[in-house]
Amino acid sequence: MLSKENNELLTRVGPGTLMGQVLRQYWVPALRSAKLEIDGAPERVRLFGESFVAFRDTNGRVGFLDEGCPHRGVSLALGRNEECGLRCIFHGWKMNVDGQVVEVPSEPQGSNLASKVRVNHYPVHEAGGIIWVWLGKGSEPPQFPAFDFTALPHENIVPRSAIQKCNWVQALEGLLDSSHVSSLHQAWLPPDTGSMEGPFAGVSTSLAPQYEITERPYGFTANARRTAPNGTAVNRYTEFVLPFYCFIPNTLETVKVMACGVPIDDETTRFWEISWNPLGPLDAATSDAARNFGKASQDLDNYYQPSYGPDKVWGQDREMMKQGHYSGIVALAFEDFVVQESQGAIVDRSLEHLGASDTAVIRVRRLLLDLTRDLKEGKPLRGLDQPIEYDKIKSLHEIILPAKAQ
Ligand code: FES
Ligand SMILES: [Fe+2]
Repeated sequence: MLSKENNELLTRVGPGTLMGQVLRQYWVPALRSAKLEIDGAPERVRLFGESFVAFRDTNGRVGFLDEGCPHRGVSLALGRNEECGLRCIFHGWKMNVDGQVVEVPSEPQGSNLASKVRVNHYPVHEAGGIIWVWLGKGSEPPQFPAFDFTALPHENIVPRSAIQKCNWVQALEGLLDSSHVSSLHQAWLPPDTGSMEGPFAGVSTSLAPQYEITERPYGFTANARRTAPNGTAVNRYTEFVLPFYCFIPNTLETVKVMACGVPIDDETTRFWEISWNPLGPLDAATSDAARNFGKASQDLDNYYQPSYGPDKVWGQDREMMKQGHYSGIVALAFEDFVVQESQGAIVDRSLEHLGASDTAVIRVRRLLLDLTRDLKEGKPLRGLDQPIEYDKIKSLHEIILPAKAQ
C-alpha cells in the first residue's frame, strides 16, 4: 500500500507536479506518423495534462508546438498548414516548426513584433511509425530510445493505441503484473494447466508465479517463474524501461510486443500497443490472431471502444460466462482495460492489501517515487545518466524442461 501523499505523488503528472517533471525528461510516443500529411490537417495532442498541436510542413518536417496561438490563444489545431508554417485562422499569424513567428499580417508594415515572439516548440523524432516528443525544458533532449523495432520497415510494425478512462499508473501496473494473466485472461489460454502450447505457453500452470527482479540501467527485468506439474519451469521476463515502457514476453517469433500507458491527463491514458514482426510484414488482425487477442476495433487511434461504462458493468456478458468464459469480456486486451477502469479514475492505494504476487508492482512504484526524489535533489535520473543499448532490450519467454530422471 501507499500513503495518500505518495499516491498523489506517483499518479499526478500535470504541469508543476514532480512526477510530471520526471516523465517530461524522457522521450514519449505522441501520435502515429501517418496522422500527419505534408501541408495536411494539424493534430491536437494532449499529453500530461497539456495541449499541443502537431503538423507536418511543406518540407515534411514535423512541428510540435503549444496549442495556443501566441497572439491571443486561439487553437492552432484550427490553423491552416501552408507554405512551411501553421497559420492561425483568427488574425493570420504564422508559425514554423521551430516555433518562430514568421508572419504577423495583422500588424502594420515594418512592425518587428514577429521577431520578438516565439511559441514553445518541442523536439520530435520519427521512428517505428510513431512521432515521439521530448517535453523537457531548459536542456538538450537525452539519447533517443532506439528500440529494435524502430529500425524495421514500417510494414513490419503495428503501432496503435486505445483510450483508457483511468490513471496511467493503473495501466503500467497491469503490464507488470504477471499473475493476473493466469486468472483474468484464462479464457484465452490453453485450459490444461500442464500445457506448453501457444504464445503464453506455461502461463496456465500457476496463478502464483514467483518473481525475481533484476535492476537494469534503464529500469529492471521482472521474471515471473512458473512450474508445471511435470517440473517444466517457465520464465517470463518482462523488461521495464523508464519511464513506462514494458516489453511483454511471448513464445512467438513473428509477433513481438511493447506496451505503455502514456498519460493524456491524470484520469485518462493513451495505451500504446506496438507489435512487430522482425521477419516480415505484420497487420493488426494477424498480430491479434497470433496472440489469441480477441477482436479489437480497427481504429488504430482508439482500438478499445466499449459500448458501456460502469453503469452497465462495462458490458460484461454474463451469458458468455454461463457458457464457460471466465471474464465475460469480449477481447483479451479489453479485460485489462475494464479491470483497470473499474479501479476508479485514480485508485486509492492506501486501501490495498498487497502480497507476493505484487512484487513487480511494488518495485515500479518505488522506482518512480525515487525518481521524484532524485529530480528534487538535482541528481541524474536512471536511464538518462549513461548510454543505453536500447536495441538490445528483448523480453524473453523461456521454457526449461526438467532434467531427465536417471
Ligand atoms: S489569435 Fe492567432 S493570430 Fe490572433
Ligand atoms: Fe493483462
